[in-house]
Amino acid sequence: MNQPVKADVATLNIPAYVKHQKLINWVAEVAALAKPDSIYWCDGSQSEYDHLCALMVEGGTMKKLNDAKRPNSYLACSDPSDVARVEDRTFICSEKKEDAGPTNHWMEPAVMRTTLNGLFDGCMRGRTMYVVPFSMGPLGSPIAHIGIELSDSPYVAVNMRIMTRMGKAVYDVLGTDGEFVPCVHSVGAPLEAGQKDVAWPCNATKYIVHFPETREIWSYGSGYGGNALLGKKCFALRIASTMGRDQGWLAEHMLILGVESPEGKKHYVAAAFPSACGKTNFAMLIPPKGFEGWKVTTIGDDIAWIKPGKDGRLYAINPEAGYFGVAPGTNTRTNSNCMASMNENTIFTNVALTDDGDVWWEGLTKEAPAHLIDWQGKDWTPEIAKETGRKAAHPNARFTVAATQNPVIDPAWDDPAGVPISAFIFGGRRSTTVPLVTEARNWVEGVYMAATMGSETTAAAAGQMGVVRRDPFAMLPFMGYNMSDYFQHWLNVGEKIQQAGAALPKIYCVNWFRTDAEGKFVWPGFGDNMRVLKWMLDRIEGQTTGVENIFGVSPQFADLKWDGIEFTQEQFDTITSIDKAAWETELKLHSELFEKLHYRLPQALQTTKEQLQSRLNG
Ligand code: OXD
Ligand code: MN
Repeated sequence: MNQPVKADVATLNIPAYVKHQKLINWVAEVAALAKPDSIYWCDGSQSEYDHLCALMVEGGTMKKLNDAKRPNSYLACSDPSDVARVEDRTFICSEKKEDAGPTNHWMEPAVMRTTLNGLFDGCMRGRTMYVVPFSMGPLGSPIAHIGIELSDSPYVAVNMRIMTRMGKAVYDVLGTDGEFVPCVHSVGAPLEAGQKDVAWPCNATKYIVHFPETREIWSYGSGYGGNALLGKKCFALRIASTMGRDQGWLAEHMLILGVESPEGKKHYVAAAFPSACGKTNFAMLIPPKGFEGWKVTTIGDDIAWIKPGKDGRLYAINPEAGYFGVAPGTNTRTNSNCMASMNENTIFTNVALTDDGDVWWEGLTKEAPAHLIDWQGKDWTPEIAKETGRKAAHPNARFTVAATQNPVIDPAWDDPAGVPISAFIFGGRRSTTVPLVTEARNWVEGVYMAATMGSETTAAAAGQMGVVRRDPFAMLPFMGYNMSDYFQHWLNVGEKIQQAGAALPKIYCVNWFRTDAEGKFVWPGFGDNMRVLKWMLDRIEGQTTGVENIFGVSPQFADLKWDGIEFTQEQFDTITSIDKAAWETELKLHSELFEKLHYRLPQALQTTKEQLQSRLNG
C-alpha cells in the first residue's frame, strides 16, 4: 500500500497512472475545501484492502472474525443513529423543482451548494481522504459508467472494493479526458489535533445530495450503506436514471436472473421489489422439489442497467460487483446460495458476534446461541431478548460480499454486452388485495401495474415500518427525476422496441406476501417462487394460456406445476382472489397517487386506470 501523503493541494501525491487533469483538479478542490490530513489514492489491491481492514480493527471500527470459521471476514457495528438510508435527508437538486417532481425532496442547487460548502469546509480534518476509482458495470462495457468517490471513511473504501470494479484499471478506461461521476462523501466528523476517534464516526446532520444536471453526488454525515457507498443508490439509480432518460436507457431497482429449463432453453428476467422484500433470495433461488433439471443463475441482486441492443431488444448488466444484502432472515433454508457466498471474505455490518468469534442474526438458526454480543456491543441472551424485545442484530444488518463468491453466478454476469431480457417482474409486499401473479395484457398496462405498485415499508429505510406506501417501480426512494416523466420514459422505451420490430419483454406483477385470516403467509415463497417463474416462461414461450381478469391475465390452479408440494386449490384461491371492495379501495389509492403526480402524468396511464375502473364496475 502506498503511504497516505499529508494533504497539500500543490503535491496531492498523484500516482503516475492518473493522467486525467480534470479529475486531478477536482481532487485538489475537494481537498482544499474538506482539508483532510492526508490523501490516499486507492489502487484496489488485496494488500490495500487487508491494510485498511487492519487499520479499522486497530481503531475499533471492525472486529476480525474467527479465521477458522469465517476466513478473512470482519464485523463492523455502526453508531445506533446511523443504521439505514435516510430518505428524508435525500435531495434531488435539479435546476427546476418540477424536474425533481413531487416524490423527491428538492432544494435550489445554489442554496444547497452554499449549505454543502459550509458543511464540507474542514469536515475531513484529522482524517485521510481516500480517492476511490470505480466502474459501475464491466470495465469498458458500452453499458458501464465510471465514478470516483472521495471519502474520509476507510469502511467505504473497502466496501466499494467489493461492491464495484474498484481500482487502478479504472484510470486506463478513463484516460486523459473520459467521463466520470464525481462523488464526495464525508462522515462529517473532523478530528481536532490529539482527539481520539470513535469506532463509527458520523454526524447527526445528514445530507445525501444529487445534482442531476451536472451529475454530481455529495453525501455528508452518514457512513452507512446507500448513504455512503455512493456507487449504489446515488449513482447507479438516482444519477443513472437521469442519464438513462437523456440517453434512452433504463436504470432500475431490479435483480436480474437467468432461468434454464431441463431442455436447455434459457431466459433472463429482471425483477423490481422494494428494499428488503427478498430480491437477493429471488436472484439466487434454488428450484424446489419437482423441478429437477431447472437452473436459476444470478446476474445481479439489486440494480439493473438496461440498454437497447442493435437488434432492438433490451440488454441488461448488473452495474455492481457485489451484494450488500440484508442479513436477518437469511439462512440455509431461505437462501443457501447466499449463505455459501458468505463463507469467507465478507464484511458484516450490525449483526451479532458469537462467543467463538463468528456472526449471528435473527433467523440464522432456529435456536439462538445462549450468549452473544449484540450489534450495539451489549451482552445478549435469549432471556434478555424475551424480556426486552432487544434484537441481537439490527433488522437492517447487512453483509457485503463479492458476486464471484455466489455459487450460482451466471456465466454471463460480467459480459460487457449484457443479457437479453424476456420479462420484467414487479412485486410489492402486500398482505391483501394483490394476487400472486398477473401478466399485463400489453406494455402500457404493465407500466401501469409498475407505476401503481404499493408495498408495506421495511427496515431498509429509517421511518415507520409496515405501512403501505405507493412505490412506483420500487423506485420511490431512488428516482433521480420527475416520476411522471419516468413513466413516460418507460412508455417511450416500449414504443421504440415495437418500432424496431423486436419482441417486447412481458410484464408481470407478483405478490408473495398475502396472508390468511391468522396473518400467516399463505405462499411458501423462496424456492417455490420457481412455480410462478415457470408459468411466466411458459407464457413467453406461448405454451400455456391464462385467464383474463380485471387487472390482467393470470394462471388457473392447474396451470402451475405443483410437483413436490402440497398446495390446495383453496390456498391458491386465497392468494389469487380479486376482492371487489379491496380493489375499489386500491383504485382510490391509485387515483390519489395520480393526483399527486398529475403534472406531466402520461394520459395513457389515466386511460388504463379508467379501463380498470370500468371493468371493476362491470
Ligand atoms: C438496498 C436497499 O440496500 O434497497 O438495496 O435499501
Ligand atoms: Mn435495493
